[in-house]
Amino acid sequence: MSRDVHIIDHPLVQHKLTLMRRKDTSTKSFRELVHELSALLAYEITREMPMQTIEIETPLEKMQSRVIDGKKVVLASILRAGNGFLDGMLQVIPGARVGHIGLYRDPATLQAVEYYFKMPSGMEERDVIVLDPMLATGNSAVAAVDRLKQTKPRSIRFVCLVTCPQGIKTFHDAHPDVPIYTPAVDRELNEHGYIVPGLGDAGDRIFGTK
Ligand code: URA
Repeated sequence: MSRDVHIIDHPLVQHKLTLMRRKDTSTKSFRELVHELSALLAYEITREMPMQTIEIETPLEKMQSRVIDGKKVVLASILRAGNGFLDGMLQVIPGARVGHIGLYRDPATLQAVEYYFKMPSGMEERDVIVLDPMLATGNSAVAAVDRLKQTKPRSIRFVCLVTCPQGIKTFHDAHPDVPIYTPAVDRELNEHGYIVPGLGDAGDRIFGTK
């Protein structure tokens, strides 16, 4: 199995991520940056999506032309921080369906506990992009993908803003078939389960709840 990690190294992505990491970046700026960055991430993630050729008619003649194959893509947001990716990604993939996975991290065990799960119908014919800004311990990402796999989607990709070696290992030990797309692999997790240097609590920074 492949254990693919795609590092999104585009200068615009790296520049925006640096601005987001700064502790004095305001909630307003952080939110704008996550919006811009997620549109760029969507562009990279969809690069290898399967395509089909259909016949269309231009004003001049008929031609064979390519479109994305299959039913609409699903953006599966791990609540709540994953929602920060939605608006920007929907700008690039406006027909996408949106699913939600509610998990909270038990503060004592750092294990993920599910409280909500809603996906569109016809998952067997859909490609899913799982959204969570921070792949930290990996526990919630593993639990989210465990649950998603029960719906038997055609493919699953995982996207985050920042991860670390431990998060990648935990995730790929459980789901080696699911590629990770990330602009950054940071040094490590601290004793509270935060990525360092990281960018802090992504949910708090997007929603201004600190
Ligand atoms: N969740 C966050 O929002 N930040 C981290 O660093 C780890 C988990």
